[in-house]
Amino acid sequence: MNKQSTPEMALSRRRFLQVVGATAISGSLLASINDVRALVDEQAIVAASLDFEQLASAYSLTENLGYLNHASIGTMPRVVQQAHQHYLRLCESNPWLYVWGGGWDAGLRAVREATARALGCQAEQVALSHNTTETFSLLAQGLPLQAGDEVLFSSLNHDGASICWQQQASRRGFSVRRFAVPLHDVVSMSADDVVALHVEQIREHTRVLVFPHIDNLIGLRHPLQQLVQAARAKGVEFVCVDGAQTLGMLPLDVAASDVDVYACSAHKWMQAPKGLGASYIHARLLEVLKPMWMTWGQQRWQGSVRVFEDYGTRNFPELMAFGDALQFQQQLGRGRKLERYQHLRQQAMDMVDATAGLVWRSPRSDHLAGSLYAVGLQQGRASATAQRLFQQHGLVVRAFDTPGLNSLRLSPNVFNTTQELQRVMQLAIAAA
Ligand SMILES: Cc1ncc(COP(=O)(O)O)c(C=O)c1O
Repeated sequence: MNKQSTPEMALSRRRFLQVVGATAISGSLLASINDVRALVDEQAIVAASLDFEQLASAYSLTENLGYLNHASIGTMPRVVQQAHQHYLRLCESNPWLYVWGGGWDAGLRAVREATARALGCQAEQVALSHNTTETFSLLAQGLPLQAGDEVLFSSLNHDGASICWQQQASRRGFSVRRFAVPLHDVVSMSADDVVALHVEQIREHTRVLVFPHIDNLIGLRHPLQQLVQAARAKGVEFVCVDGAQTLGMLPLDVAASDVDVYACSAHKWMQAPKGLGASYIHARLLEVLKPMWMTWGQQRWQGSVRVFEDYGTRNFPELMAFGDALQFQQQLGRGRKLERYQHLRQQAMDMVDATAGLVWRSPRSDHLAGSLYAVGLQQGRASATAQRLFQQHGLVVRAFDTPGLNSLRLSPNVFNTTQELQRVMQLAIAAA
């Protein structure tokens, strides 16, 4: 992997450091935030002009580490880390001003607006959260459900969007049903098959349907709009979607899908600071969804989506840096990123098909897939193989020993290379 900086990047980085240093001394809040954002933009434009194969130089991953696990946790571009550090320094220069004095108001408004653009909705529909799990806890505690109501999801639903319902069911009296997805059939399923699989499970008392837009096991991209429409037609009242794997990976248009809630994490594909997320919440939920956090002064957010994100003192420097992560990703270009993901996935699929002992376990068509896929091993345990790949070869992938799957999950970002994928395939066979 080429980690050399181009002269333009080095220049830009120098300029970034100059301005960050200068503004920290000047203490001029508005100017300094604008300067940081302008520099992130400048650096991101430089990064966007690079071939994706050279883009690793904009990150700080260990040299020679083959990091193919962006679905578990992403990595922040160096310029976003620098912006974050700058906001931290600013905050610590006058904590009251930057926590309670409204010091970040304009900057945070811009973050919410940029998040809305990434989600495909209005700023007033966005709650800035900690992660996807938090939003699902909010829903399981706060939706108006009662004894006799059912919450439905498939075996592809992540624990972070499942456990909360199971816990609250016993306290609140509603029921939860999880149906099995035949994992081996997914490879050849159509969008209609995926919809039918869900719709045939919906009963008269099913009030909530939950599904991951892209699941974390085999990377099935559920047909969002089609599935929401079909569920509504069968009388489901609340459709809540887990977008942990999509924000930053796919172009999104959530408001158009008529979903009730679309919950995301920003520390995976958006490459924002860890412990940040964002959720789209439809206006019709404002009347019926109860907040999870109880804080003083919360009444000021009555009737606003912000009532769901107010938990008292907040970490604003990291939230500000979320804006820089959004800006960086935007400069890389949504369409260009998508093409790159499709290219890498096609390469991976061809390699698996040509390698004895490996089996492709994920959807094959572009519109049902994303940048995470399962490569089944016919020999050896996947977790032991993944451990050896990391310890002996510096390759980071996630393993699933799940019966019938026994797979390595590869989740490359745009800067990962065909050569890295190739190494995983070859060494997985040798290691098994
Ligand atoms: C599909 C899916 N949903 C939810 C989560 C939970 O994410 P978080 O811990 O950011 O809430 C993950 C984490 O990997 C995931 O892959």
